[in-house]
Amino acid sequence: MLTLSYYNAIAADGGFGGLSIAALEALQTRSKQIHHNLAAQRQQGNLYFADVIDQTDAELDAIEQLANEIRTGFENLAVLGIGGSSLGAIALHQALNGPYYNERVLQGKTPGPRLFFLDNVDPDTIATFTQTADLDKTAFNAISKSGGTTETVAQMLWVSDQLADPAHFHKQMYLTTDPTTGSFRKLINERGFKSLPVPTALGGRYSVLSAVGLLPAAAVGIDIRALLGGAKTMRERCTSENLLENPAYLVGALHYLADRTQGRSIAVMMPYLDRLFGFAQWFGQLWAESLGKRFALDAEEILTGQTPVSARGTTDQHSQLQLYAEGPQDKLMAFLALKEHKRDLTISADAMGIETYGFLQNATFGQLLNAEQQATEFALRQGGRISYTITLDTLDAATLGGLMYLYELATVFAGGLYRIDPLDQPGVELSKVLTFGLMGRGGYETQGEAIRAYLTDKKAAGYHVEA
Ligand code: PA5
Repeated sequence: MLTLSYYNAIAADGGFGGLSIAALEALQTRSKQIHHNLAAQRQQGNLYFADVIDQTDAELDAIEQLANEIRTGFENLAVLGIGGSSLGAIALHQALNGPYYNERVLQGKTPGPRLFFLDNVDPDTIATFTQTADLDKTAFNAISKSGGTTETVAQMLWVSDQLADPAHFHKQMYLTTDPTTGSFRKLINERGFKSLPVPTALGGRYSVLSAVGLLPAAAVGIDIRALLGGAKTMRERCTSENLLENPAYLVGALHYLADRTQGRSIAVMMPYLDRLFGFAQWFGQLWAESLGKRFALDAEEILTGQTPVSARGTTDQHSQLQLYAEGPQDKLMAFLALKEHKRDLTISADAMGIETYGFLQNATFGQLLNAEQQATEFALRQGGRISYTITLDTLDAATLGGLMYLYELATVFAGGLYRIDPLDQPGVELSKVLTFGLMGRGGYETQGEAIRAYLTDKKAAGYHVEA
């Protein structure tokens, strides 16, 4: 299904700046403790990403039924959501439906609907969306676990306003939210909107394999049962307490050691396939929001976290690679590659008579892409830069489900190594409540005053130039 090579993270020759097997071995005792803590947390229902992949046939039927209704009844599907309620579905769609999907739907080359992610509250994007999709022929899937995320609520209210007739809203809106609490649930209970539940115990960024990711995915033809099947296979593969035998623990340990013992505080995920760029961005949220923490579980201030960066091979070889090759020794590279490109293309049978083009003659794009990935990991190794490479046998729903599960487990395992809670996100609260204050929400007057005073001081201080 996939192979994780950590050869380029390990200092086999002494001179190269990698980690040592001894350092990994030294984590074994902690690995075992974390393994048992995670098992206990799962038992208590707190590690629900590991259980949500066991959704019953009835639960999956309910998702597929709504997906089918969307597929057959609408030209477009627009996902309203943000963060963990958007990034997972984007990653699934990009990986499994590939580029130019909406254009192919328009040309009748693939069944619809077209898929849009509003994802933000940028009015320009929203205005452009209305010029692109006929709202009357669009299904909307508003996804919010809490039912109270400002951006998603704003998107949903805007849609309700656009669909002047409430009957249309009722017909076109699908809500995905907590099964019992929150304002989305209240709307569902009071107005009978079509809906799917997000298990209460499931945190946003770990929710891709629940209805959050699965409804949009199924609506655009992705085999959600294969996704879950792949995740289950990976769960089986990641049961060892020995971190050298557990791929998820190994990934968590490599990142942790690179960060804490070598100051490699940046994690660059660089897929050498366009379809996994969305996955790299999904990983970015998972890694940043889960591990970027001020306090340890024992309340010690520790300021942890590796900064995730998404790059794309080969494109970013011509953009960021110079920095990765010669800049500060502060990065761990995670390459994602594909063993065999099933839809490979021969570049050309003709080198146009130019001698220096000859090596491309009869070569394939897949060979070139893989050669560039291998050359880059080797070149970085020469400079003492460390990396690991995950090579997928094939890019399909099962493999992607497995890869997502692997990184979810790697994240909570790394949380154990860092001694933090990888399931909370206290740091995003302050900007939320300050926005409430600035936008005049009742109950947030103090925050409103604080931020208005700050804006006045900022202006008065005069540290700005106009150009
Ligand atoms: O991971 C998280 O918890 C967040 O990124 C949430 O997914 C995001 O804030 C959206 O939350 P909600 O689904 O409640 O609207």
